[in-house]
Amino acid sequence: MTRFKLNTGAEIPAIGFGTWQDEGAQKDAVLEAIKAGYRHIDTARVYGTEKAVGDGIKESGIARNQIFVTTKLWNNKHHPDDVPKALDDSLRDLQMDYVDLFLMHYPVAAKRGDDPIPKENGKPVTEDIDYIDTYKAMEKLLNTGKVKAIGVSNFSKGQMDRLIKHVSVVPAVHQTEGHPWLQQHEFLKWHQTRGIHVTHYSPFGNLNQIYSANHLGKLIDEPVLIEVGKKYGKTGSQVCLAWAITMGISVLPKSKTPHRIRDNLEGDFKLSSEDMENIAKIDRKIRFNDSSEDMGMVFFDDLDGKGTKIP
Ligand SMILES: NC(=O)c1ccc[n+]([C@@H]2O[C@H](COP(=O)([O-])OP(=O)(O)OC[C@H]3O[C@@H](n4cnc5c(N)ncnc54)[C@H](OP(=O)(O)O)[C@@H]3O)[C@@H](O)[C@H]2O)c1
Repeated sequence: MTRFKLNTGAEIPAIGFGTWQDEGAQKDAVLEAIKAGYRHIDTARVYGTEKAVGDGIKESGIARNQIFVTTKLWNNKHHPDDVPKALDDSLRDLQMDYVDLFLMHYPVAAKRGDDPIPKENGKPVTEDIDYIDTYKAMEKLLNTGKVKAIGVSNFSKGQMDRLIKHVSVVPAVHQTEGHPWLQQHEFLKWHQTRGIHVTHYSPFGNLNQIYSANHLGKLIDEPVLIEVGKKYGKTGSQVCLAWAITMGISVLPKSKTPHRIRDNLEGDFKLSSEDMENIAKIDRKIRFNDSSEDMGMVFFDDLDGKGTKIP
């Protein structure tokens, strides 16, 4: 499998296994994924799947150091005093003594406490904690050996600029939404020139049913992707993954369906520059995952997809 080098020197497998949603199916899905050959698994405190991920990895019998595991700090644990305990809680459920990558899930702090999405009168309750201070608390975890690398997710360009000006450790990874309908080439270049690896979530665009954008048709059925795929004996979904991998981006396909779990791993190949140019033409700049209203901060304000009305 293709692997990319992080600014820590570690390698991240290009295809990681997503574990958001379908909590009850995740232990078997993770086990199936590892059997198929995945060696990178993405979870998060808020998904409620850390225990299932840990169980799946244990049952697989594959040595811990052969699998790249990512988890994420949730918004209600942004206070610097809460960060070490939040990591310990994740590690306990994952049943491991370190994670390969610990990400700040969002740049917004929710009210401290145990409610992951605290609301009052239907409105999200935030806390005045700067994501810079949260990140500095994450930096300290590097010395404990409990995290091998740290990074962020769902930051805007302005937030990334501000972050790297004020912290000592350049994030190893920025995990963001990305797919052929939300290509963000400029933002990718911005990361690459600063040694920050980009990981794409929702690599199949609107396939996640929570995005309720079925009327657009499926990204994986785009004629260009199907035509390109024919040249390589691959499907539209596999071309979605290869498109990102060709640019040095890692991807996190999620599936609870054994044959899809296996098929998605076959998206690890490179496309020709001609094929990449053709796919560049279908960028619709549509962002499907934007929880700004739910979380009380305007996310992605300077990025593609903000303000693009889903037709
Ligand atoms: N950092 C963040 O804020 C953030 C946000 C979103 C996601 N993520 C991460 O990224 C992962 C992936 O994103 P995602 O779950 O939104 O979307 P996704 O992987 O793009 O799509 C998942 C959906 O596509 C279906 N599917 C998977 N492979 C398929 C195939 N080959 N053909 C047809 N359908 C297929 C799955 O169905 P079945 O499961 O029923 O097979 C599921 O409904 C998440 O699981 C999570 O780990 C992170």
